Amino acid sequence: MNEKLTKNADACYRIAEQRAVNYFKSLYDQMMQKSYVPILTKHIQWWKHNHIHHNSLLYFFSCKKSKPDPKDYHAYIQWLNYTGKLDNYLDRSISYIFMRDLGKDLCLPETQTRIRSVVDDLKKYLTGFSGRNQGEKNDTISMAGLYRRAQKEGIESTIIWLIEKLKTVSNNIPKGMDAEQAQRKLIKIIAGVMMHQVEEMGDHISSEERSRKLDDAIRLGYSYGLTYPFIDDLLDSKVLSAKEKEEYSNLICITLVTGVVPELSKWYGDNIDLIRYIHSELKDAFEYIKTHQSSERVKSFLEESYVFFNSQEVDRVKNLSNTNYTNEELYIPVILKSSSSRLIARSIISASEDEGFDNRTFFYGIYNQLADDFADMFDDMKDGAVTPYTYYIRYHGKRSDLINPFELYWTVISNLINNVYYSDSKTCEVILDRAINGLKRFKIRMGTQKYNEIMELFAPKDSEFNNLIQNMVEKADDVDFFDKLLRDHMITILKNERKEREDFLDTVEKLQNKINNMLNIPKTENISLINEQIIDAANYSLEGDGKRLRPIVAWVMGIKEYGLSESAILPLMRSLEYMHTASLIFDDLPSEDNASTRRGRPTLHQVYDVATAELTGLFLTQKAIEEQASLNQFDSKTVLDLIQYSTQITEKVCRGQNMDLHSKGKRLTLEQLNMMAHYKTGIAFEASLIMPAILAHAKETEIEALKEFAHHVGIAFQIKDDLLDVEGDPMLIGKAIGKDTENNNSTYVSILGNEGARKEMWEQYCLALESLQRVPLNTTFLKHLLNYIVNRDH
Ligand code: IPE
Ligand code: IPE
Ligand code: MG
Ligand code: MG
Ligand code: MG
Repeated sequence: MNEKLTKNADACYRIAEQRAVNYFKSLYDQMMQKSYVPILTKHIQWWKHNHIHHNSLLYFFSCKKSKPDPKDYHAYIQWLNYTGKLDNYLDRSISYIFMRDLGKDLCLPETQTRIRSVVDDLKKYLTGFSGRNQGEKNDTISMAGLYRRAQKEGIESTIIWLIEKLKTVSNNIPKGMDAEQAQRKLIKIIAGVMMHQVEEMGDHISSEERSRKLDDAIRLGYSYGLTYPFIDDLLDSKVLSAKEKEEYSNLICITLVTGVVPELSKWYGDNIDLIRYIHSELKDAFEYIKTHQSSERVKSFLEESYVFFNSQEVDRVKNLSNTNYTNEELYIPVILKSSSSRLIARSIISASEDEGFDNRTFFYGIYNQLADDFADMFDDMKDGAVTPYTYYIRYHGKRSDLINPFELYWTVISNLINNVYYSDSKTCEVILDRAINGLKRFKIRMGTQKYNEIMELFAPKDSEFNNLIQNMVEKADDVDFFDKLLRDHMITILKNERKEREDFLDTVEKLQNKINNMLNIPKTENISLINEQIIDAANYSLEGDGKRLRPIVAWVMGIKEYGLSESAILPLMRSLEYMHTASLIFDDLPSEDNASTRRGRPTLHQVYDVATAELTGLFLTQKAIEEQASLNQFDSKTVLDLIQYSTQITEKVCRGQNMDLHSKGKRLTLEQLNMMAHYKTGIAFEASLIMPAILAHAKETEIEALKEFAHHVGIAFQIKDDLLDVEGDPMLIGKAIGKDTENNNSTYVSILGNEGARKEMWEQYCLALESLQRVPLNTTFLKHLLNYIVNRDH
């Protein structure tokens, strides 16, 4: 590496370090002189009046009794609203975020106005959910909810980009790491950078400019946020070998020192695929950051990032068995890493210089880090990680010079309140809320006994002060925070979704196997007299690598939702796949799309001839009706209704295909496109939902709701199909790509462009999810079916 550049980077680190040394020294003195004790005692005495509710019977009945588990997101918010605590709760939470993440001075009137306005919006949003059904409540962090908000801001393309990025990240998180935490952290960083951007741009800005700035913040936030899962967490985990970690750290270091991402030439280790993905993703991110900042900014970004990265490295290579770390060695990197991470979140958007922000953020960081390290001390202990807490646990007996990190924690708080925020009452309020809340949460998680044992070790020497704190932990109320609630809720939802998705894929795979084994059409008659090929031809088409989505949907609806027996609906499943396969055979004919590959093999008319293909299509359509007519476990009136419905479906598909063929080269409107997609594709999807409903005599209103859902799913399905025709991998989709352009077909892509088609797909996705809320069934499977359809690669 270039020696001069290395020297420069090291010099920057030394300067940052010197500032941290001075800060640490001041904290150390305050702790040794115990000046934090009287300062905090005074503040806590003042603070507790709002948090200790003396034996009020009314209070007891109105709040305590019905207080829901704080893990139950919606119930908890409803309870806060009902008991009149919501305003305070949100005010405390938003104030805290303005202080911690945005580095604001809470005593400024303009900050207070902004906080008020955010609290009002958030309150409206949160209380708007009450009274609606459970499904809708999940909106908070659902893709549909996110997309709808993006539409309001005019940043649909950005959110689509982000959704796809987050999906790839989550798919690439290796087994030894926590995918949900990685996603959550990434989202949190993006949100943080966006908040800075929103505060920076103010209200007087055109909506185009606002969209552009939000787009930039999201892409920059993602680019910077990637470093959390893919640098920090990865190096903390056990995924890479020691040798690989060294190679990887080296790559990062070279990048930050030289400003250029080195090529990934050699790699010594098993995780080459992972590293290749990360390398390419981080390289793109790095380039994005570089091209979106002035060269002056790039320079300081690199310097700040180097301080951030290096301080973490210094900590990471520490070994718990080393008996000699000094207090400075333990705390200086903590001050540096915790403050630089937050400084970058603002400087990355090229925000204007703000010395107040820089200062407050610098002093604030260690508070957070010590709170986190306190909460994680046992996990860190298990991992052998050196933090002020783990080191103290290990060596406090032998090393009387070691600082008690818990005492330093209270010193930091005292210093922040007194010297950084000049005893501002609001600041004092939220910091103490947060500190007591942290201890309360820890105590609940550990249990009282374990908590008391821990406190034996860490309690500040001043017993009066310690009693005061413990008293607050025991009795103080109204100290909880929205970001903690949201965090738990988000993890629960992400984990749930993953589990549901795995179950969905499992079900699909099992059913695909089952269906593959029941489609074959046997040869019943002695056909040796004439070499008749039609059954072979039909089986050839059926044997191809189809997804079997329509019979799968019918199985889930019929059996899981309507409680029909499997043996009763097997003919229905066969009939759906026969109808669908017939439509594909016709669609591929030279007179239609003239396709030569289907389901990973040559099309039927290529293997046989056009006439045989035509007859096979007709044969399978009739075979489908034959299957329906043999649904003999249902009464004949019901079966007749079903057949009537089914024939209408086939008629509509024919009409849809005809529209398609006659729209070549025409500039259809979106409405016409949607109509065509509904007829040629959506309607057959509808059949797979509605046929089981007909057999089960479902209510008309329910059938209507399902049809509406199917309408949007069908359109989304066709849009994805059109997109795959331009962007798909022919190895995966099993058919040739570029057919639509070749045929001059009018598709979503040809009319709206890739970007426009994608937006319309997500619009239909949202509409489908919204109509699902009116379906009075368990909709988990259908929700995942929809996700599968828009995310599929074949
Ligand atoms: C393709 O349907 C034809 C359209 C309706 C767009 P599928 O994508 O479901 O095809 P297979 O059954 O998996 O081959
Ligand atoms: C065909 O749509 C719809 C039906 C088969 C009814 P496409 O022509 O887009 O289907 P692919 O792309 O050939 O599968
Ligand atoms: Mg076609
Ligand atoms: Mg086609
Ligand atoms: Mg197509």
